[in-house]
Amino acid sequence: MSIITILGAGAMGSGLCTPVRNAGWEVRLWGTWLDDHLIDACEAGKPHPRTNVPLAKGVKLFRAAQLEKALDGADVVVMSVASVGVPKITEMALEGISKAKALWLTSKGFCPNNEGKIQLLPEAIRTIAKQKGISLPPIVAIAGPVKANECAEGKPTATIFGCKDLEVSRKYAREARTDVYCIEATDDETGVEICAPMKNVYAIALGIADGLEEGTGFPHHNLKAATFNRAVKEMSLLGQALGAKAETAFGLPGVGDLEVTGLSGRNKVYGVRIGRGETAKDALAEMDRLEQTVEGVPAAGLASTLVEQSAPQLKEELTLLKAVNEILSGTERPVVKVISDAVLPKMP
Ligand SMILES: NC(=O)c1ccc[n+]([C@@H]2O[C@H](COP(=O)([O-])OP(=O)(O)OC[C@H]3O[C@@H](n4cnc5c(N)ncnc54)[C@H](O)[C@@H]3O)[C@@H](O)[C@H]2O)c1
Repeated sequence: MSIITILGAGAMGSGLCTPVRNAGWEVRLWGTWLDDHLIDACEAGKPHPRTNVPLAKGVKLFRAAQLEKALDGADVVVMSVASVGVPKITEMALEGISKAKALWLTSKGFCPNNEGKIQLLPEAIRTIAKQKGISLPPIVAIAGPVKANECAEGKPTATIFGCKDLEVSRKYAREARTDVYCIEATDDETGVEICAPMKNVYAIALGIADGLEEGTGFPHHNLKAATFNRAVKEMSLLGQALGAKAETAFGLPGVGDLEVTGLSGRNKVYGVRIGRGETAKDALAEMDRLEQTVEGVPAAGLASTLVEQSAPQLKEELTLLKAVNEILSGTERPVVKVISDAVLPKMP
């Protein structure tokens, strides 16, 4: 039986346990020093506090101090912590990761290196390993429309595994597949890794369109659809500028994940607050108070730095990214105007 060690016992780490356990793997779930209460609940047989679903049966639990034990003999290691924690957890787990046959990655985000250069997460992990003189197994970027709670509950889910070596993507897409957790394989690691954080940024804009309905009493579905279209186009443009395939944004990592993220989730909820009239600052303070991390907020700023550094030709073209950043920095203009200017077609 192959062994998989998932690093991060939050919603996604625990949710992923269900398919891989059902696919016949030995599953180990390691919680960071922030996860003790989550491990406590799982050990007590209670639903996981983040997904409200009990952990899959037979999963072995490990606490922060047991990292070495959790990684011992692992065939696959999964990085499933919030993107802000990826560099630290990579450093802590590097030796175990280097002995595994693959590193999977469900974390979504951008990561600045020591010189302030914005990297995609796989690149950031490779840079850390290189600095320590440690060689890494292939990285498999995981994305697509996957809500952790539905995945945990075994509801039908489509996902995508992206590895530069297509044979590696295909191998794990076969080995982790179940009747309800079905996996596409691609070699477009970059495309997958661009869409993953960008859809969080754009879900804020979709939420704003929903919030406008709450604030004005009138639906803004036309604006929301135009925003969705613009978001997909921008994910594709940015991906291509960085070497991704154009079509990845039109598949599960882009359109698919944007749809599910725009329906519910913290980025959308944050956008709704802004759309119905709260300032970006007040809305974020309220989300913080509720312990709801809005990953799209840092991602929006980092994405615009990424564009300046690595795709400056797109600076004026990514109008929706610019609009979201304008709103997040506290624009004086009505948000409906800011979004409309960004997504409605220009005079031909
Ligand atoms: N929830 C989902 O449906 C879902 C789906 C796909 C991908 N993801 C991605 O998976 C990642 C984890 O999301 P989640 O929903 O499990 O979040 P979560 O808040 O439930 O869990 C976060 C995890 O990251 C760890 N963590 C947080 N801050 C850290 C830090 N500073 N240093 C080290 N570790 C830290 C926590 O201990 C925990 O294990 C995110 O990047 C998210 O975008 C989430």
